[in-house]
Amino acid sequence: MTDDARQSAPVDPTRRLAPVVRIAPAKLNLTLSVVARRNDGYHSLHSVFATLGLADRLSLALAGGDQDTLHVSGFDPGETADNLVLRAIALTRAAVGGGWPGGSQPHAARPHGSQPHGSQPHGSQPHGLAPAPALAVRLDKRIPVAAGLGGGSSDAAAAIDGALEAWGADLDPHARLAVAAAVGSDVPFFLFGGLALVEGRGEMVAPLDGLHGTPGVLLVTPAVTVSTRDVFAAFDAIRTHGDGAVRLTSVHLAEELRAKLSTADLVARAGAMTVANDLLPATALVVPSLVPFRRSLSRLLARPVGLSGSGPTLWALYASGAEAAEAATAVRTALEEGRITAPGSAGPFVGATHIQTGQQHGSQP
Ligand code: C5P
Repeated sequence: MTDDARQSAPVDPTRRLAPVVRIAPAKLNLTLSVVARRNDGYHSLHSVFATLGLADRLSLALAGGDQDTLHVSGFDPGETADNLVLRAIALTRAAVGGGWPGGSQPHAARPHGSQPHGSQPHGSQPHGLAPAPALAVRLDKRIPVAAGLGGGSSDAAAAIDGALEAWGADLDPHARLAVAAAVGSDVPFFLFGGLALVEGRGEMVAPLDGLHGTPGVLLVTPAVTVSTRDVFAAFDAIRTHGDGAVRLTSVHLAEELRAKLSTADLVARAGAMTVANDLLPATALVVPSLVPFRRSLSRLLARPVGLSGSGPTLWALYASGAEAAEAATAVRTALEEGRITAPGSAGPFVGATHIQTGQQHGSQP
């Protein structure tokens, strides 16, 4: 959503006809330093996140019933009931309470002749205030699932933003951030997008505006399921805290990206970035076959290959999206010819994209 849109007067949602559309981009961790294990079992991080051009698409329409619904196409994200989009909408509705144009009139006309909503499943509202209407969401999943690319978290952030617009409601930035952090650790970042230094459990997000140009990114996601929880558990089994060199690289890169860095300079730092992920040894314990695959990819591409987040997505940086696309072709050919073999029961996702600077979540024309 643009700032202009966010500040405009709320639209009466019962008069809205067109669905609200949101782009939900993937992310890449250019660095990931695990600072410490927290008392709540989570880990505090120091990580440079980059938004990618690869994105899911969400559309949210006011629905007639009293249940939010989700219809997914593209990659299969698993059980719909567990989808973070539905959780994000439920938590956003609770935070909005009666603070939407129909909220203080529980018996006001409903969109599409629907019935007033009961306390289930929308939760009770104080003093008979009406909860925001149910939404029918369509999600086109183009980002591989459970891949370390943040797709589910990005969908959730887009759902928070899209639901507010569909309802003609608003939440101040602090309240939005609180809802996002309650949905998942990576969700707050996606309220900002662009490049950012992410700290704490993920709730501290500082935009980094110094990157010039649009570096290309090759993504290779083997068809293996990697649970973030399992990777952090493996990290705890082998380490008490992250590596000092990883931390230094992360701090240094964040400083450079806060000041000014060209695409060429970023690509030149790939060697340092691709080893600056404290979760690498832990992910290697969870998926041992990722280690030789990463090595063979690096040999094939003649450049360093990193792991995004807890994996299993592997990435390489290029001067442009076109160069990344050439690399993607080379990887597909090598896989077809059996020169490299990816872990997993099926072939990997191989995609070329680019780093996206600045704002995202914009409304589509
Ligand atoms: O917050 P989210 O549900 O995405 O996290 C999934 C799991 O990853 C958590 O249950 C936790 O075990 C681990 N995690 C962590 N530290 C973080 C983020 C995630 O330990 N900063």
